[in-house]
Amino acid sequence: MAFTAASVTLLILFTTLLLVPRFTGYVLRAALRSAGWFLKNRTNGRREVILSRVRLEEEDYRSRNPYSTAGPEDEDWEKVDSAPGVAKNGEPLGENWEGIIGFFHPFCNAGGGGERVLWAAVKATQERWPKATCVIYTGDHEVTKTTMVERAETRFNIRLHAPTIVLLYLSTRKYVLSSMYPHMTLLGQSLGSLIVAVDAFNLLAPDIYVDTMGYAFTIALSKYLFPLVPTGAYVHYPTISTDMLESLDDGTGVKGLNSGAGVGWKGVAKKRYWKLFARLYGWIGSKVDVVMTNSSWTSAHIDSLWGPSRKNLEHAKVTVVFPPTAVSELHSSIEVNSASEATREPSILYIAQFRPEKNHSLVLRAFAQFLDERRKDPANASLPTPKLILIGSVRHASPDETHIYNLRLLAHELHIREQTEFICDASWPTILSHLGTSSIGTNAMWNEHFGIGVVEYQAAGLISVVHDSGGPREDIVIDMGDGATGFRATTEDEFAAAFEAALALPQEEKVAMRLRARKSALRFTEEEFGRKWLIALEKLISQQRRLAKSTKT
Ligand SMILES: *[C@@H]1O[C@H](CO)[C@@H](O)[C@H](O)[C@H]1NC(C)=O
Ligand SMILES: *[C@@H]1O[C@H](CO)[C@@H](O)[C@H](O)[C@H]1NC(C)=O
Ligand SMILES: *[C@@H]1O[C@H](CO)[C@@H](O)[C@H](O)[C@H]1NC(C)=O
Ligand SMILES: *[C@@H]1O[C@H](CO)[C@@H](O)[C@H](O)[C@H]1NC(C)=O
Repeated sequence: MAFTAASVTLLILFTTLLLVPRFTGYVLRAALRSAGWFLKNRTNGRREVILSRVRLEEEDYRSRNPYSTAGPEDEDWEKVDSAPGVAKNGEPLGENWEGIIGFFHPFCNAGGGGERVLWAAVKATQERWPKATCVIYTGDHEVTKTTMVERAETRFNIRLHAPTIVLLYLSTRKYVLSSMYPHMTLLGQSLGSLIVAVDAFNLLAPDIYVDTMGYAFTIALSKYLFPLVPTGAYVHYPTISTDMLESLDDGTGVKGLNSGAGVGWKGVAKKRYWKLFARLYGWIGSKVDVVMTNSSWTSAHIDSLWGPSRKNLEHAKVTVVFPPTAVSELHSSIEVNSASEATREPSILYIAQFRPEKNHSLVLRAFAQFLDERRKDPANASLPTPKLILIGSVRHASPDETHIYNLRLLAHELHIREQTEFICDASWPTILSHLGTSSIGTNAMWNEHFGIGVVEYQAAGLISVVHDSGGPREDIVIDMGDGATGFRATTEDEFAAAFEAALALPQEEKVAMRLRARKSALRFTEEEFGRKWLIALEKLISQQRRLAKSTKT
């Protein structure tokens, strides 16, 4: 009861702060700061309990594993040795930062890409700062720490060191579900996340606060409650994007859900509301000390929304920290050299869900055209006929099923049915074997935000022929300074020409391009993620030290 009252009061304070002019703002800021002080004092007891339990678990762990220092695996230690260990002034940073990092991640058991990022970040943190405690604020009451740690290992192959991880359970997670807010979902969810954040801070006030799920409003709240706590954000997706704002004015109907919804009085109201929300969101950006994004696409959007308000911050620049992918596994299970070239067939592989936006029909048409061109030259007759292999998941009883039926029809019409293979819901071993024996990996989606599939092509040594837009263009199929790592195309003609060009490369150059692609995929490994994450965390930790020192003197 007391908690609800307190959180409602805080919420009212904070929301008013968003809406009022400066001078009242001053009073409110002071009020929030005292509330923060109160929360901190209130949770101090729990903090001591948590820290002493962590110490006990750590001792217990060491007595059972006498040869281990503090990290889970010795070999992993060497990998992070290259991480920044020295502060700017040349002083060693020391492994002895003993604070608490609070990760706001209400759905830590969801098992998706966002959770891989969370656990990879926790793992890198543990290896670099073994005495730091990682607290995860979660609403997944059904998982204990032990099962969570096990799941991170089975699902993501990430081995965590359990003693310094603490899960704190939120009882208010329902307030961030979009189903709670049939109208004004964006604002509703954002304000709802504040209730959940108060819940979190009422459990424990952290020394560093990091949001890994995109609840940026909670960061602003943290900043007002605890001005001495540095804040970080790992942004997968901007809460509102500039594309969304533009799509309201779009009359063509191709730009998604809200396309062209900006007409009529409702449309005008919606536009106003979104614009206002975008301004609010933009202001939030000034409260985040260190911002990481998962791709250049997200970075560009965050820059345009947050850039103006972050200009004067110490770490104003937004950095791209690519999420970890299964690159290492592909590297170790598939060989690329001139000997393995003999086992590669002239096949073109497209791994993507069977959905319209993936534009399989573009690939089918381009492939048909490519075969036609090839048949024109009798010199080509002796070559093995290339194949097109389409692998994808089909959601049961969904429009996907009609979609794939139409694609089969199209292949038939184009007279390429014999050369085209559809594989639905393939197992990982099957996918792996095709990645190892095909020559080309293709992707025809327009403006894909990233394209993990393309990274997997590269890691497997396939030559990419991808759509010249979005993540494949900005982040993945790029020249790393030593030559092309694949081909980019837009139209049917360009795709057909690129298939031909890739297959006609002399063997030596083919192998060289495969090796370059593989090397470029190394930017997306877990180690690389850990390295970049630690650079960001180091900024937060040194800021925390500085702020803590400044209050003591
Ligand atoms: C702060 O917390 C301590 C115990 O944790 C308590 O004795 C003290 O009264 C609190 N101070 C205030 C002002 O609430
Ligand atoms: C970034 O996150 C968004 C939203 O989850 C996702 O669509 C996109 O693929 C992610 N990018 C990368 C590089 O994983
Ligand atoms: C597929 O690609 C073609 C050719 O670029 C384009 O005209 C079409 O709109 C695309 N379809 C989809 C669903 O993106
Ligand atoms: C097939 O014929 C085309 C057209 O003459 C030619 O450009 C291409 O190099 C040939 N392909 C191969 C793999 O030799």
